[in-house]
Amino acid sequence: MGSFPPDFIFGAATASYQIEGAAQADGRGRSIWDTFSHTQGKVVNGDTGDIACDHYHRWEADLDLLAELGVDSYRFSIAWPRVQADGKGRPNQAGLDFYSRLVDGLGERGIKAFVTLYHWDLPQALEDAGGWVARDTAFRFADYAEIVAATLGDRVYAWATLNEPWCAAMLGYVTGEHAPGRKSQAAGLAASHHLNLAHGLGVQALRSRDAGRVGVVVNYHQFQPADDRQTTLEAVARLDAVGNWLYTDPMLRGTYHPLTLEVTRSVTDWEFVRDDDLARIHQPVDFVGHNYYAPSWIVGSEVPAQPGSCWIGVEGATFLPPHKPVTEMNWEIHPVGLTNLLTRFHQRYTEVDLFVAENGAAMPDATSEDGSIHDTDRTDYLRGHIDAVADALEAGVPVKGYYVWSLMDNFEWAFGYSKRFGIIHVDYATCQRTWKDSARWYQQFLSVRD
Ligand code: FCB
Repeated sequence: MGSFPPDFIFGAATASYQIEGAAQADGRGRSIWDTFSHTQGKVVNGDTGDIACDHYHRWEADLDLLAELGVDSYRFSIAWPRVQADGKGRPNQAGLDFYSRLVDGLGERGIKAFVTLYHWDLPQALEDAGGWVARDTAFRFADYAEIVAATLGDRVYAWATLNEPWCAAMLGYVTGEHAPGRKSQAAGLAASHHLNLAHGLGVQALRSRDAGRVGVVVNYHQFQPADDRQTTLEAVARLDAVGNWLYTDPMLRGTYHPLTLEVTRSVTDWEFVRDDDLARIHQPVDFVGHNYYAPSWIVGSEVPAQPGSCWIGVEGATFLPPHKPVTEMNWEIHPVGLTNLLTRFHQRYTEVDLFVAENGAAMPDATSEDGSIHDTDRTDYLRGHIDAVADALEAGVPVKGYYVWSLMDNFEWAFGYSKRFGIIHVDYATCQRTWKDSARWYQQFLSVRD
């Protein structure tokens, strides 16, 4: 295995709607994922997050699992509707208390808290008022960020405003695969801008409470040109413009790239961008977190822009099918893609520190007769990708930490419980947790580092 500096952070990650359950406990309001998962045909098997891993009631035992694993840090998200049932107004103390206990529990175990404020569970009341298409949602987010920072304050190691704004906007508002399930390209672009604005206002709110290390987590797509023809490189640039730079350019450079505006011009005139918005979005951040699972191989082609596509306005680009081997998601296993992503991102945005905020694999996970799960495939995946991070470090990329997705099997959005990403197995009938071999491997890997 490659080597890591002594202060490099290794962790595991989860998100509120995917693990907590207790959907109606202690004054929690409804989120767009409650509505979406309860709408017929939206989630495989009609699964919902009503119970999920019941983490809301089992959090102490789950923190013990983290301690036993030996991680330095735990990345989790806060459910906005637990803190403000309708997304605005007076906070719900019981909801805040839950996260306060969680953060204290991490502190007692010597584990650093990495908090994501928005991992997709928007209060339904805000969606009813327009969701991310409505500008006001960004201001509501800033209020919420300030409330949480005022409570958890200096007990948190790192704050991410948003998780994957691309997914929230494009899967939520364009393709409709995710909550709230709308299907409009124009809505997706307005939502993108308002998520960007929420990020900037959120950073300001966190800073006003001296929150410490602040950043954002993105799924910066690793578009790999499949050949070096000019048309292919141009196709990749257009995809970067609407899939990547749409978020990171305003956040880190204070501009929308001319190519982003050009490619999307047939869909919107960007009238929703007001004076000062870009200055508000462009706040100094301490890090950008990357979620990486697989690359996309691209060739330049003749195809016109596809109506309804999340690659809004992009023409001349074809996605090749994944090379083998693939995971249960049919996502290609390509660790070098992670090195490339980190290197490529660092070349474009040189100033900022990076984390790998999620990386992992859904695998078939056959349970043996004795109850053990020999997920050698997942262990190989993790080992390969951790090595890929070491390669990026060696190339001079300032990567500060790596988080496995996920601590445990959980509600995988539109796939429900049909895909298992955990290094710890969850029996959904009993909520019992069982260590997979990959968790034992990670534990061993972490112990020899010390
Ligand atoms: C990411 C999400 C995370 C998880 C993984 C598999 O896009 O951030 O919640 O579902 O994919």
